[in-house]
Amino acid sequence: MSSQIDHLLSETRRFAPSADFADAAVGAADLYERAAADREGFWADQARELHWHTPFTQGLDWSNPPFATWFADGELNVAYNCLDRHVEAGHGDRIALLWEGENGDERRVSYAELTDEVKRVANVLQGLGVGAGDRVAIYLPMIPEAVAAMLAVARIGAIHSVVFGGFSADSLRARIDDAGAKLVITADGGYRKGKVSALKPAVDMALADRNGSGVQETVEHVLVVRRGGNDVEWQDGRDLWWHETVPDASPDHEAEGFPAENPLFILYTSGTTGKPKGILHTSGGYLTQAAFTNRVVHDIHPETDVYWCTADIGWITGHTYVTYGPLANGATQVLYEGTPDTPHPGRWWEVIEKYGVTVFYTAPTAIRSFMKIGREVPQKFDLSSLRLLGSVGEPINPEAWMWYRTIIGDETAPIVDTWWQTETGAIMISALPGVTETKPGSAQVPLPGITVDVVDDAGEPVGHGNGGLLVITEPWPSMLRGIWGDPERYKETYWDKFADKGYYFAGDGARLDDDGDVWLLGRVDDVMNVSGHRLSTAEIESALVGNEAVAEAAVVGASDETTGQAVVAFVIIKQSFLKAHPAEGLASTLRGWVGEQIGPIARPRDIYIVGELPKTRSGKIMRRLLRDVAEGREVGDTTTLADTMVMSTISAQVK
Ligand code: WT7
Repeated sequence: MSSQIDHLLSETRRFAPSADFADAAVGAADLYERAAADREGFWADQARELHWHTPFTQGLDWSNPPFATWFADGELNVAYNCLDRHVEAGHGDRIALLWEGENGDERRVSYAELTDEVKRVANVLQGLGVGAGDRVAIYLPMIPEAVAAMLAVARIGAIHSVVFGGFSADSLRARIDDAGAKLVITADGGYRKGKVSALKPAVDMALADRNGSGVQETVEHVLVVRRGGNDVEWQDGRDLWWHETVPDASPDHEAEGFPAENPLFILYTSGTTGKPKGILHTSGGYLTQAAFTNRVVHDIHPETDVYWCTADIGWITGHTYVTYGPLANGATQVLYEGTPDTPHPGRWWEVIEKYGVTVFYTAPTAIRSFMKIGREVPQKFDLSSLRLLGSVGEPINPEAWMWYRTIIGDETAPIVDTWWQTETGAIMISALPGVTETKPGSAQVPLPGITVDVVDDAGEPVGHGNGGLLVITEPWPSMLRGIWGDPERYKETYWDKFADKGYYFAGDGARLDDDGDVWLLGRVDDVMNVSGHRLSTAEIESALVGNEAVAEAAVVGASDETTGQAVVAFVIIKQSFLKAHPAEGLASTLRGWVGEQIGPIARPRDIYIVGELPKTRSGKIMRRLLRDVAEGREVGDTTTLADTMVMSTISAQVK
């Protein structure tokens, strides 16, 4: 690892933006000076770019750390800022969403049309008794209704919890229960990999048969969009079709102002324990930083740009850079339903050519999988509209960065490598594309108004050239406000480590180079990053031991050429199970099992059936050693193991 890092840090290639790009860029160098001179005043200026029903007089309140408030005496309506405001400014005919279904269906939705739709949905929700502070689960494919649903919930001051459509019924159930959702918005199904993938049955399963589970059923209604056309079961009284209720609802709906700290959404993400954390975000500060970062990092010129962020709305990237940031800025964006390689491997490039996409934001794992297929595929399409490229979700290796620049960006489009997290709500570390000389592989500099450092375990700066832990040293507007229902876990996870300094601990290793640029080195905890998605080792282990065959399980993230990391599991099978069942096919059964329990993204790439696991004398599993095995390396120091022979047994069993 460290030789690889030294290699990275000796990267000498630099790419300055063209003079034309720099001249026209939204974000200029003076932003850094203004923010350095008066950080809170700088953020207040950014917040005033939004429409406030009641202007704020307060900025940051950090009197009760780690619980921050921003602009707390102001009132705003998030949906009004993303919709009505643009219509009232005369931009109602501008296209908000250029939607392309995987099967080739198309819809162009203007700001006026989206506003009308959201007002109707808001009326439907209120008619169903949903009001400010209530939770609404959203489990939808990438269709315009998904964006409309989020905004309608925001419009009435309720709280959405979007659950990625690839999650299983069990994962959905856990999220519905934790948040106590009153309503679920879903679809019959959506297109994925060339066929309809059903969603409604997972909702039915998540809500079925709660008797005896001890959990109080909170869901009163299920609102169902028809997209896949697949048959669905129906529970009269509970289930409602979107197309039978929304068009009939009134298009008049006045946007009420809500306090800046009114919760906007909960989004679940994996932590170091088996139970996902409900990350809570609020309204004013979140929208301020979402809009600002989208404007200056993605250099949005709303009159001329066609922006495309490929993330699903089930992830934070989809929340901030599909729904809230671009719409707050009045941008025109592509919304694409399916997978990148259906019906053909050039599908994304075809979409870029068709809509003339100018700003493109995607993940390194996607870039690496396109590299594998070969440059011939993108080279069949006209990508000359692209003028800016972005990367998010995991470190982008210099090879992938250079391929992205050369093959997709025609050696001219700047690349912004953006570091942030579900918890940070918006981009924190990134180049400004009209200002920064970019470096392949480094996320580079904190944005104006953001302060970070790389420190040792005691919180002391490690200085240039040394590895350490990434911290955020001052509160920021879009920071998480807590973990839903668990203030203690919020403190423990993010703030206890550097309590005396008041630093936010991000969970990432990092290093500063001689220019002070940040290089991200991956997670320092038991969180894996697979294709830019966060997965917890503990969550997958707990799914595995939930299977009748499994006695014990240990999961590690092993490096993978395409997905960054891959899930590798080591399991011990119960003797009693083996007496009654054949061992053949067990690994593949267990892969399928994890897929059902959590979702297909969590399915281990490899499952090794072993006789023992490496443990310390106190019983802690030494994952580091298992990672050595999974990555085909010589096994490291085993002296702290209770049984030092165990690794050679495991290595033999894995071969
Ligand atoms: C973790 C957060 C940010 C939205 C998508 C993922 C890793 C994210 C980068 C980057 C290196 C990155 C970190 C972080 N990460 N962006 N540009 N370079 N690492 O959000 O699921 O909350 O995961 O993703 O490890 O902690 P998330």
